[in-house]
Amino acid sequence: MMNKYQFDVLIIGSGSAGLMSAIQLSDSLSVAVISKDEILEGSSFYAQGGISAVLDPEDNFNSHISDTLNTGFNLGNKDSIRFMVEQAPSAIIELEKIGVEFSHKGSNYDLTTEGGHSSKRVAHVSDKTGQSIQINLFATAKNKKNITIFDQHLAVDLLISNSKCNGAYVFHKKTKKVIPFISHNTIIATGGASKSYLYTSNPDTSTGDGIAMAYRAGCEITNMEFTQFHPTCLFHPNAKSFLISETLRGEGAKLTLPNGEEFMHNYDERLELAPRDIVARAIDNEMKIHGYDCVYLDISFKDSKWISDRFPTITNRCKELGIDICNKAIPVVPAAHYTCGGINTDIDAQSNINNLYAVGEVAHTGVHGANRMASNSLLECIVFAQSCAKHINENLLNRSYQKVDDWDSSRVEPSKEKVVITHLWQEIRRIMWNFVGIVRSDSRLKSAYFRIEQINKEVDEYYRLYTVTDDMIELRNLVQTSKIIVESALSRKESRGLHFNQDYPDKDDKIYNTVIINS
Ligand code: FAD
Ligand code: SIN
Repeated sequence: MMNKYQFDVLIIGSGSAGLMSAIQLSDSLSVAVISKDEILEGSSFYAQGGISAVLDPEDNFNSHISDTLNTGFNLGNKDSIRFMVEQAPSAIIELEKIGVEFSHKGSNYDLTTEGGHSSKRVAHVSDKTGQSIQINLFATAKNKKNITIFDQHLAVDLLISNSKCNGAYVFHKKTKKVIPFISHNTIIATGGASKSYLYTSNPDTSTGDGIAMAYRAGCEITNMEFTQFHPTCLFHPNAKSFLISETLRGEGAKLTLPNGEEFMHNYDERLELAPRDIVARAIDNEMKIHGYDCVYLDISFKDSKWISDRFPTITNRCKELGIDICNKAIPVVPAAHYTCGGINTDIDAQSNINNLYAVGEVAHTGVHGANRMASNSLLECIVFAQSCAKHINENLLNRSYQKVDDWDSSRVEPSKEKVVITHLWQEIRRIMWNFVGIVRSDSRLKSAYFRIEQINKEVDEYYRLYTVTDDMIELRNLVQTSKIIVESALSRKESRGLHFNQDYPDKDDKIYNTVIINS
């Protein structure tokens, strides 16, 4: 009997990378987009600050390129950066065509700035940029007859034979069954891995699934030591993962100690607009020196109406929690925010496995180097989704489907000990936060490695014995991705950008990428 889950292209993930790829694929191709949660859930929806592009006549491509390279401590790949930067203005136009209405000042874009940018080049939809992009991408994808969208479908593993990807095994969270989705081409667009850390700005979907699946399949995983910590997440017992956008600092907000004293002048002449690694380390240092639980971000000196018009999401969320940002400084702490490394890809988003692509935060395109510049991530998602779709549209020749085995669950039984999963899940996130955080050392990294390696073995054993559940699949991915992060961190013998190791406090003269491959 023919498998009803056969498509020209399978896209795993419905963030801006996945949905943009879907709508750019030719109408003649059958496309499945699967997502493990609600379709709109994922980091893209929560993006506040904006998307960077040279749109101001005073700005130019070379300046966006050199800012990106400098922020990434010269580790970025110049060709990929140039490609992304030059495509940025047309990416903005593509988004406008599907209905995204960027904020304007009169007839011009209301461009703002963030750390690392030497010009105003961040286009935004007030502080709801990601929400607007996602709603419009989803509406467009839903209207295309060649696209079928499956929510609550969690990819478990890629189907690989003869060094070629033929789709993925997918767990349906409602029926609890694993189904093979067979495809000629597969795009991984599963986002980042910031949930590996105890404190994060990310939603629950960022468990590193795509990175772990690709690793198991034999992909090159590059530069995973570069986890970006966003300097300013809201510090409040009832606020899980709420970001206070860097664009507040772009509009002049100041970082202070609890007594109102400013401190960024002690760290960098760019003050609050130094790149994120510098600001996050400065805050971490102040908190450690003084024993504070948080520092403060103050924009209350601006006009109240201006604040609530420009930052409605942040104003309202803080108000719900009893913080009036028009009158009071906001308590903030750094938290894991972005995975700069990932599945190694070229400009067409191709991985080293045939018919397997990766787009968005899950990919390592080389544009971020050792530290991502603010608002370059949504841009990377949109630009590389376009080049990925173009490559598939122009190269999909073989359209006969591979035969694959059904999922075999004959040797497993339901687990009676769910607590094992919750316990290990929390332990991994604590280890990563305490030993693989903003400031690292070889001894802390080694302690983390030994325990994570042990947990990895325990989880593997558990996975082989018991019936799969969504929690178990995510735990397996979280521990494998964490292990890759630690291995990458141990193999970088220098401090560069987001990776700061006290045992090697300086930058090496040699510039290199770390690559981890499943052996
Ligand atoms: P996501 O948007 O995270 O989407 C991943 C998708 O994959 C989700 O649909 C998820 O459910 C699905 N998925 C994951 N695993 C599986 C699986 N195993 N099976 C099936 N589906 C799966 N960047 C900017 O450039 N500008 C900003 O202003 C900005 N603000 C941000 C604010 C916040 C709070 C956060 C968290 C990030 C922000 N970023 C910003 C970063 C940026 O939003 C993300 O890097 C980008 O949106 C990632 O898009 P993505 O499509 O790669 O992944
Ligand atoms: C923010 O709004 O501070 C997030 C921007 C980004 O991550 O690029």
